[in-house]
Amino acid sequence: MSTRILGIETSCDETAAAVVEDGRQILSNVVASQVDLHAQYGGVFPEVASRVHIETIHPVIHEALSKAHVSFDDLHAIAVTRGPGLVGSLLVGLNVAKGLALGRELPLLGINHLEGHIYSLWLTEDLPEIEFPVLTLVVSGGHTELVLMTNRLTYERLGGTIDDAAGEAFDKVGRLLGLPYPGGPHMEKAAAEGDPHSYNFPRAWLEGSWDFSFSGLKTAVLREIKRQFPSHRAGIDETPSGLPVPNLSASFQQAAVEVLIEKAVQAAEQHEAKSVFIAGGVSANTALRNALRKRAGELPVFSPPLDLCTDNAAMIASAGFYRFESGQRDGMDIDALPSWLL
Ligand code: KG4
Ligand code: ZN
Repeated sequence: MSTRILGIETSCDETAAAVVEDGRQILSNVVASQVDLHAQYGGVFPEVASRVHIETIHPVIHEALSKAHVSFDDLHAIAVTRGPGLVGSLLVGLNVAKGLALGRELPLLGINHLEGHIYSLWLTEDLPEIEFPVLTLVVSGGHTELVLMTNRLTYERLGGTIDDAAGEAFDKVGRLLGLPYPGGPHMEKAAAEGDPHSYNFPRAWLEGSWDFSFSGLKTAVLREIKRQFPSHRAGIDETPSGLPVPNLSASFQQAAVEVLIEKAVQAAEQHEAKSVFIAGGVSANTALRNALRKRAGELPVFSPPLDLCTDNAAMIASAGFYRFESGQRDGMDIDALPSWLL
């Protein structure tokens, strides 16, 4: 008999619900993005995010059930993101999940959002049988985490960013360059028209640790803009016309990608990983995917389908399935964990 899990995700600015069967088959995957709403602020406005989650969550869940052609009676558990994320946003999903679990007498599973990103890989149709350990690089707007997955549900955190997350750096630099929010996809597009060698931006290697740092790279772009346009006041003035956006984007992307892939492959080699997983919003970046595959050589690299790189609830339901199978059942007293790492 198959096991159907309802996943709920509200950790940031996407209100999402999905129904997944046996951890791998997506029956429905509904994502209501608030991106357009937050674009006017140039980033996520937490109070606005939680208010919109409250308005959107029930219709999104009903749409997910209806698209999957299932009712609550056909479900086996509810999996919900418990953290990391914005506390007000997390609480909306968590409280709705608790209410539904209690009312419908379904088991409740609190899921780590980063584990969810990793499980987006299992939603890839042609993923082969996976051997452990797997070196995973989760690169999103909120996180840059290098984690050794030693077994299905066990993780050893190797390192992470000490300042800006990779996606956050893309978004902040995108803003400096006058690109719309979120900057990542727009910078990738601009970079495709530019020369990655036009500016030699710094790479923060942080030798001897598996940590990352991207704030220096961001500042270097700002310094370059100031050098070219000395009277420009960042954050106040309009982006100067004549700014070489494609070249700046390409050079920034090259610097960020180089550090990410080099550290990931070195960590994989040192820990004798059998493969490398890359997940999270920034893993949608084709330059990053291609460079990682090239650098990894014989070592297999897996990445989720593009539409599952950014936040969604199918990945939460998938992780939920494997947690459900392992016997996890959470109580109604679980809290949101805004800083929960793997
Ligand atoms: O995983 P995600 O949806 O949310 C978090 O958990 O944070 O990641 C969103 C991030 C944003 O910073 C966005 O700019 C970045 O992923 N992103 C990209 C691309 N697509 C999304 N960054 C670089 N290149 C892309 N193609
Ligand atoms: Zn995410």
